[in-house]
Amino acid sequence: MTIQWFPGHMHATRKAMAERVRDVDAVVELLDARLPGSSENPLLAELTRGKPALKLLNKQDLADPALTRVWLDHLQARPATRALAMDASERAPARRLEAACRALLPNRGGLVKPLRVLICGIPNVGKSTLINSMLGQRAARTGDEPGITKTEQRIMLAEDFALIDTPGLLWPRIEVDESGLLLAASGAVGRNAYDEEEVARALLGRVRPRYADRLATRYRFAPAPAAPDDEVLTEIGRRRGALGPGGRISLQKAAEVVLNDFRSGAWGPLTLETPEEFAAWCAAAAAR
Ligand code: G4P
Repeated sequence: MTIQWFPGHMHATRKAMAERVRDVDAVVELLDARLPGSSENPLLAELTRGKPALKLLNKQDLADPALTRVWLDHLQARPATRALAMDASERAPARRLEAACRALLPNRGGLVKPLRVLICGIPNVGKSTLINSMLGQRAARTGDEPGITKTEQRIMLAEDFALIDTPGLLWPRIEVDESGLLLAASGAVGRNAYDEEEVARALLGRVRPRYADRLATRYRFAPAPAAPDDEVLTEIGRRRGALGPGGRISLQKAAEVVLNDFRSGAWGPLTLETPEEFAAWCAAAAAR
């Protein structure tokens, strides 16, 4: 399945970002801690090559803590890169984010060389929540300024530290099929760009091998490991009363149950990919 989702304003964003990136000292990218590889934007990587980077694994409350540690180590092994895990319950996100950025840029700071840091992330990754939380604490939002487009805002985390915010940015074409499905499952992709049944089946296929017990607890049945995902989806639909016309089980409604449960964290904290799995998908996609 190819997911195509690149609304018009994103073309403008790409162009604006390419211009913005030139003037910033570092880039903070929010990643979904449940799918850190798939939620990392290759377009952004291309635009920001060579800049120090802070990777922020957000929604860590929904992710498997052991795999979050694996991902943090994996990301921090890159040059000029730091990684942090966070979620919306973080009490002082601005302080942690600022400290991490200052550590990345030890030679900047002060009013002569203020820090300018771009913050970005794909849609639904929790960027507005984080920014609102920071604004609610000590940061101040600045008004219109020349050179700052309407779609951007500057948030002063300190007198000498500006965060430049951009709207969500997804890449024009998701080349790695597995990533496209996981992004759709996470809610990062517009609803009309994918088939819910296909995404729910793929999600079950990812979750069952590692977290079969969670599904068994949630839906009170334990399918055989070899049972096809279709069958499992149908049984979830039966157990959840997902019925369509004529009282038949509706796979569409069963898929909605599965996706809503995953997105709300009803299965407990889980992570959908390891760095090795993600690297293997990318290699296979590149070889196609
Ligand atoms: P965006 O700006 O990156 O597009 O994302 P936004 O902040 O709007 O967050 C998208 C959804 O993710 C919101 O839920 C938000 O509450 C939720 N969210 C953000 N950060 C976290 C987090 O750290 N942990 C968890 N579990 N959820 C988080 P929503 O259902 O779309 O809206 P609402 O129910 O909050 O109104």
